[in-house]
Amino acid sequence: MTATGSAARESGLTREPPGGPLLVEERPDRVVVTLHRPAARNAIDAAMIRELHDVCAALEEHPRLLLLTGHGGTFAAGADIAELRERGRDQALQGINSRLFDRIARLPMPTVAAVDGYALGGGAELAYACDVRLASPTATFGNPEPGLGILAAAGACWRLRELVGASVAKQVLLAGRRLGADDAYRLGLVAEVVPAEDLLDRAHALLDRMARSGPLALRLTKLVADSSRAHPVADDLAQAILFESDDKRARMDAFLAGGRP
Ligand code: COA
Repeated sequence: MTATGSAARESGLTREPPGGPLLVEERPDRVVVTLHRPAARNAIDAAMIRELHDVCAALEEHPRLLLLTGHGGTFAAGADIAELRERGRDQALQGINSRLFDRIARLPMPTVAAVDGYALGGGAELAYACDVRLASPTATFGNPEPGLGILAAAGACWRLRELVGASVAKQVLLAGRRLGADDAYRLGLVAEVVPAEDLLDRAHALLDRMARSGPLALRLTKLVADSSRAHPVADDLAQAILFESDDKRARMDAFLAGGRP
């Protein structure tokens, strides 16, 4: 319960597998996942990947918001280097990390990463795969993979470019530039920088704001926003569904009657 703080204490629903790599707190409208491998700076190993797939399966079946964070002042120090050391071509072609991060990026409802401390390598790519990132002042994003003789193959080579532009992305990928919290904020990589002790509360406040929107509207907006090649057909199809919904009529009636969200 330590990692999810007051939020976890309020709900009392935290599941803490003894020694497991994730702390998972389930709420009616959101799931809070804390990466938890303190001895390895939350490095992402096979067990963590398996458990994150389980979380994805649950969120695909029962769409809710996702808050992803790291235990103990680190988001995640990358993929587990001891495991990477042993992987060969066939494992690379399996896309062990990239498929998971894609699955997270395609979750039906919005996802928020609350990044305190290091988000390096695969840890950074996991944060890049989320819809919105919040940072503490010590947040540091970087992709040191070439220094280990490998490529940042789980999204950094294209997602980071989409997030901050090719010039900065190449500085990170090719020149080892690390983006501290202020740089990340200035570049739009993170939405906000907040003191570490307020980070989870602020992330929950952001999710509260999202949760006040129409859930189907939120879901379709994410789907359409991520389908750039499908425009404008996808937009029209999504709008056609929403225009027929009781939720839309109720919300617009409330606005026209003088209520404000
Ligand atoms: N994979 C496996 N183990 C890792 C790890 C990773 N990505 N990152 C950290 N660890 C382990 C360390 O080996 C160390 O284990 P030990 O206590 O058994 O020696 C432990 O976590 C603590 O790491 P340490 O380096 O002592 O902590 P630090 O606070 O001084 O530094 C980092 C933190 C994140 C700057 C540093 O651990 C680091 O650079 N990690 C690797 C980052 C990286 O290259 N990621 C890309 C991987 S593709």
